[in-house]
Amino acid sequence: MIVRTVADLRAQVAAWKAAGQTVGLVPTMGALHDGHLSLVNSARAECGRVIVSIFVNPIQFNNPEDLAKYPRDEARDVALLDGVDAVFIPSVEEMYPAGFASTVQVGGLSDLLEGAHRPGHFNGMATVVTKLFSMSQADIAFFGEKDWQQLQIVRRFVADLNLPIRIKGCETVREADGLAMSSRNRRLTASRDDARLMYGAMRDAAQAIRSGVAIDHALDQARQALRKAGFAEIDYVELCDAETLEPTETLSRPARMLAAAWIDGVRLIDNIAV
Ligand code: PAF
Repeated sequence: MIVRTVADLRAQVAAWKAAGQTVGLVPTMGALHDGHLSLVNSARAECGRVIVSIFVNPIQFNNPEDLAKYPRDEARDVALLDGVDAVFIPSVEEMYPAGFASTVQVGGLSDLLEGAHRPGHFNGMATVVTKLFSMSQADIAFFGEKDWQQLQIVRRFVADLNLPIRIKGCETVREADGLAMSSRNRRLTASRDDARLMYGAMRDAAQAIRSGVAIDHALDQARQALRKAGFAEIDYVELCDAETLEPTETLSRPARMLAAAWIDGVRLIDNIAV
């Protein structure tokens, strides 16, 4: 069932809840791939009813060209979601009616890493995700660990704002050669084979850190490996506290290595546990 308005979504969810069903939400921007479908499968395994939202959120794009280039194919996406209880596809006007003026902003976490390179991105993301939670009244929402920083920010504002929803992080789905699945991968052409080396470089560095190599040295090695693989620009390769994302120089708490780099004009991100 395709639902396009908040009123229709709320009416449907109210009926499900009256029947005692747990409602799961998988927020997406479409251009679905196996990573999204694995989130949908996790939602179906845990929830009686599953909503997938498809909304290319203009306010989380800091680059208008990126927004214009974002792949959109509603018919294909809906066909892939066969069996999902509701596909919520609001228009921009439904999401942001005239006069819309509020923002959800998570201090600190939103300014690091991705936030430093994409100003405003996380405010736009946090705002639309808060709205999707409120519109859907879902009990559980499913997010991929591929966007690790996004997941930490969502957990933060859900706790801070006492939102009555549980957040489930799901493992990154990778291609057979290790490349993390992403809607941007379809823009990789000649460099598709080299792109997989991002995961390899991160895994090697993580292994080196675990075996006692100095963190700075291991991260430098990873940056060099990326340059050698053809990544023309490296936005960051950092080891951070897995929750606060503050840079860390020890492994005394769970740590995460996060990277963002450009290959062939495409910006890829990835992260792994260390
Ligand atoms: O990860 C995404 O696709 C988007 O950031 C999300 C969570 C759907 C919000 O627009």
